[in-house]
Parts: sequence; C-alpha cells; structure tokens
Amino acid sequence: MGDNVGLYEKLRMYSESGAVPMHVPGHKRNVGLLGAHLPYGIDITELPGFDNLHDMRGVLRSVAERAAALYGSERAFPLVNGSTGGLLAAVRALTSRGDCVVMARNCHMSVYSAVEMNGLRPVVMAPRTDARFGISCCVDPGEVDEAISKAPGCALVIITSPTYEGVVSDVRAISGITRSRGVPLLVDCAHGAHLGFSDFFPKSAIREGADVVVTSLHKTLPALTQCALALASGPLSRPGDIARELAVFQTSSPSYVLLASIDECLALLDTRRDELFGALEGNLRHFDARVAGLRSLRIVCRGGGLDSRSGFYGYDPGKIVVCTRGVGASGAALAEALRSGHGIETEMSASDYVVAVATVCDSRERFDALADALISIDRSPGVLRCGKTPSHPPSPPAPPPTGGLVPLAEAEGATALEHVWAYPPGTPIIVSGEVISAAALREISRLAAEGASLRTSSGSPAGFVAARRANQAPATRL
Ligand SMILES: Cc1ncc(COP(=O)(O)O)c(C=O)c1O
Repeated sequence: MGDNVGLYEKLRMYSESGAVPMHVPGHKRNVGLLGAHLPYGIDITELPGFDNLHDMRGVLRSVAERAAALYGSERAFPLVNGSTGGLLAAVRALTSRGDCVVMARNCHMSVYSAVEMNGLRPVVMAPRTDARFGISCCVDPGEVDEAISKAPGCALVIITSPTYEGVVSDVRAISGITRSRGVPLLVDCAHGAHLGFSDFFPKSAIREGADVVVTSLHKTLPALTQCALALASGPLSRPGDIARELAVFQTSSPSYVLLASIDECLALLDTRRDELFGALEGNLRHFDARVAGLRSLRIVCRGGGLDSRSGFYGYDPGKIVVCTRGVGASGAALAEALRSGHGIETEMSASDYVVAVATVCDSRERFDALADALISIDRSPGVLRCGKTPSHPPSPPAPPPTGGLVPLAEAEGATALEHVWAYPPGTPIIVSGEVISAAALREISRLAAEGASLRTSSGSPAGFVAARRANQAPATRL
C-alpha cells in the first residue's frame, strides 16, 4: 500500500484486503449486519427539527432516553468525542479546582489530563499486577476505603472497570463504600459498553451502583469510532453539571452521522440483543473449546474459570488476552506473527501478551481463524522468535521540558516531572511525581526496542525523561 495514495483510497483498499479485525471498532466493518447507508447524504448541521446535542429536547433527547432505558441509568448523554471527552467533562463536573480525588494507578491518560487541568490532588491506588499474566488486577474495595481516608475532603473516586485486558472490579462493593462516605464514584467503562446485556458477561457498572459511568460504544459494540455515552444515576451524579461540562469538552458541531450511529446501535441492542449476545456467547464457547489444548500460549481466564484469590473479581470474556510468557517471546512478536502469518490484526500488544477484541459483529469463521492461528503458533513457537521486528519510529524533535532532561539510563530513583505512556493502552508507565523504578525503565526500553509509540506529557525526546535527580533541588518555575 503506497503512501502517495489518498486516505480514503487507502482505507478502501485496506477494507478489501481481507484482514481479520480482532480490534476496535466493535462494528468490525460488518456491513452485512449493519448496512452501508452512513454517511454523506445524511451529514447535516443543527437544522430545524434535528435538535441540539447541548440542549436536547427533540430527536436527540429520544436517543438519550433510549440509552438511559437500555443501560438502566437515570440520565444518559450521547458523546461524539469518545470516552475521552466524557471523562474530561465528568471529572470537571464532579470536582472543584484543588480538590482531593482518589484514582486508580491504571486510569487512562484522559483521567490524568483531567486531574492536571483541574489542579486536583490525587491519592493513587495501585492495583497489584497478576504474577501469571503481567496484567493489572482489580481495584480492591478495602483499598478504596483506605484511600478515601487519606484524601481529605475527597471529592471523587475514579476507577477503570473493565480494564483494557477485561479485568472487572467489584463495583457493587466499591459503590457501597463511596456512597456511605458521600463521595461520587466515576467508573471509566470505556471497554465495557457491551456488559450487562447477557448473563454470560459481567454486570454493567451503572447497575452495580456507580454514580457516573463513561463508556465507548465504538470499542465493543456496533457504532462508529468516537461514539460513546456518559451515564448518570443517583443524588451524587450531578447531571446538570455534566451537561454543562460536555458543552465545554465536546465540539459545538457534533456529527449527525455519529449521533445516528449511536441511535442505530441502541436500536440494535433494543431489538436483537438476545440473538446477538447469544451468538457471541456461542462463538466464544466454541473458541474456548478449540484453544483448550494450547501447550505454551495461555489465554487469560479461559478454561480455568476465575480463582477467587486471583485478584480478578470478574472478567470480560469478550477480551481474548493471549499470554506469551510460556514461549519466551513478546506480545509484539505474537501480534506480528498473527498479522504477517495469518492476516489477523489484534487490538494491542504488551510485554507478555496480546489483546484481541471479540464482539457481536464477529462471525464464527473469525473465531476459527484466530483459534487456527494460535494453535499453529503454539505448535511451532519458533515463528515468534524469528519474526520480523517492527522498525523504530523516528525520534520526535525535542521541545525543552520545564524540568531537567535525564537520560533514561540514569533515571532510576529520580522523581518524574512528566507522565510517560505508550499508546495503546494509554495508561502511564511513569506518573509525574513518582520515583522512577527500574521496572518502569525496563518496560520503556522494551517498548522502545519493539518500536511502540511512546509518549511523554512534556514532549521529551526519545531516550530522555523530564525528572529531578535524587540529589537535585526542586526546579523553580519562572
Ligand atoms: C481505559 C480507557 N479509558 C478511556 C479511553 C478513551 O476512550 P475513547 O477512545 O473512546 O476516547 C480509553 C481508550 O483506549 C481507555 O483504554
């Protein structure tokens, strides 16, 4: 595919390439199920009769009411800027400048951005890492209680459930604690818009008692990229403030194509939920049976069920997380082998695993293709060790950071003055204010070697981090 081809043409060629999409968006380009009638002919602005997203009274209000009824919330807000816009708005709506908040360490960068923008003082809870798979465990309710006690006047608790890897926290127990303390609970449910529609999947966070939930329809349901919802219930949820802040963080020209996609997605859930989720359950059970005999590759929560001591309160079976520890290869090597050897594109790869996303738009053949590929790689894991290594992206130019630039090789023990993360998954490896650990530096150097997209909040050049060395006095800001 040449780079001198226009973007539309490039997209069209890719869509005809036959690549198997085990990634978001959840519609999986399934025009057979969803039709191909979006978008130019219906791309309009706020014409009479078409309502206003920032003051919903007509057709958009009906969309919002349908979403609230389906998800069981008191209020719902359609979002056209993904969960990112919803999280920025919700954090701002539920806090005042300088407030203390409690947040999980594995929150998305949009939550860190909201904390910074509003000058909030975070008390950070660090879910432990599962020793078998190297993924974050759930947030422990007891830890939430303890963290609130350490956050004077705590204004808000923010957690992610499910995580990118499908780990679900006990939102019922956590919301019981936050409610008894009079603190609103915001759950980032970007990866869980499909939860709660069938008993095969964990319950949805809003039905489990969260005050505000932000969820990306586009990730795991049939909706165009950027389509999302904010849901609010109960006396702590402040829907009026959320509406006000959504008008700040979302465009004043929302796309009716995206809004129509949200409506269609909700209509599909309303009318064909049992059929679609029944088929997905059948496909996932079939997939599980097919991969039950894998010898070296292991799939998280497949075959063995949940262990109550495992650190996973619940698990989203729509995430297929394949762990490569048993074959001594990286997640990136497995993703590359699936891509180049089997035409399968996965959602995300990390040190030791790959995440594939399964949705109601996937056919049985797709699950078979993934199972065939995994079985074949499991039998000949050598393909992972001689696979092509992705090339390194060019280093970005180096805008001067406000703190000192410290080479990563010398940064252990220094205090970070910026966040460092890779996208995906968009959760920080280093958080500003933290003492930089050897483990974090190892993770960064591994990601750099794999050509991952590493980012820093002050734009430090590759190989450096803005930090204060252990023996260095704090920088004075001019
Ligand atoms: C945990 C989490 N929250 C929020 C977001 C942002 O969602 P969106 O892409 O819909 O803006 C992401 C994106 O990947 C995410 O992983």
